[in-house]
Amino acid sequence: MEADFWHERWSKNEIGFHEKEVNPLLIKHINDLKLSKGSRIFLPLCGKTRDIAWLHSQGFSVVGIELSEHAVKQLFEDLLGDESIKPTVTQLGNLTLYTIENIEIYVGDFFNFSKEQLGQIDAVYDRASLIALPDAMREKYAQHLIEITAGIPQLLITLEYDQSIINGPPFSISNEMIKNYYNDDFNITELDRIEESLKGKVDADNVVWHLAPKT
Ligand SMILES: C[S@@+](CC[C@H](N)C(=O)[O-])C[C@H]1O[C@@H](n2cnc3c(N)ncnc32)[C@H](O)[C@@H]1O
Repeated sequence: MEADFWHERWSKNEIGFHEKEVNPLLIKHINDLKLSKGSRIFLPLCGKTRDIAWLHSQGFSVVGIELSEHAVKQLFEDLLGDESIKPTVTQLGNLTLYTIENIEIYVGDFFNFSKEQLGQIDAVYDRASLIALPDAMREKYAQHLIEITAGIPQLLITLEYDQSIINGPPFSISNEMIKNYYNDDFNITELDRIEESLKGKVDADNVVWHLAPKT
């Protein structure tokens, strides 16, 4: 999916992927990452997920990147509520950085986001990023993520369903695909699998993965 597709989704408010509540699988499995308070967690393709506020409330520092500035503005409206408090907005070349204490969200293209811009982080939480991208972009995404995060642990939430019934996004991600993208760098564990109905048309499994770096 190219940038225009996502900008259009956000401008038309066609954001079925956005969850009204914190993702219960994040709450259930955050401790599998064995992080200490103050750890810095990266959310690639973060949208305006409520998971950011929850991670922050648990004492983590959060960094995200999102294409849509519209989404990021809504995220901070949601986070701050009180209109007298505003995020600090900084232009950094091709990126715009929105910050409040311990939350940094970059507006820009993940594929142009560098290791130096991201800085040191302790874990990746990826919900609905991998499934947002078509086949041709997914391997590039996984490689770029490993490159800029130096292969640190990941909590990854994907979907698996019969892709012949509906077209993505979200795209179905099989165990084989996960192995193809991540097996060289990580020990992969499937932590959970919860069934849901996708768009009322097909049964889909929400699958939670833990990726632990191979030493
Ligand atoms: C399926 S949504 C998932 C959002 C979020 N992770 C969540 O759980 O709600 C995918 C998001 O990725 C963003 N996106 C797509 N391509 C991107 C890119 N190349 N760089 C940064 N963000 C991107 C879209 O604008 C969209 O908000």
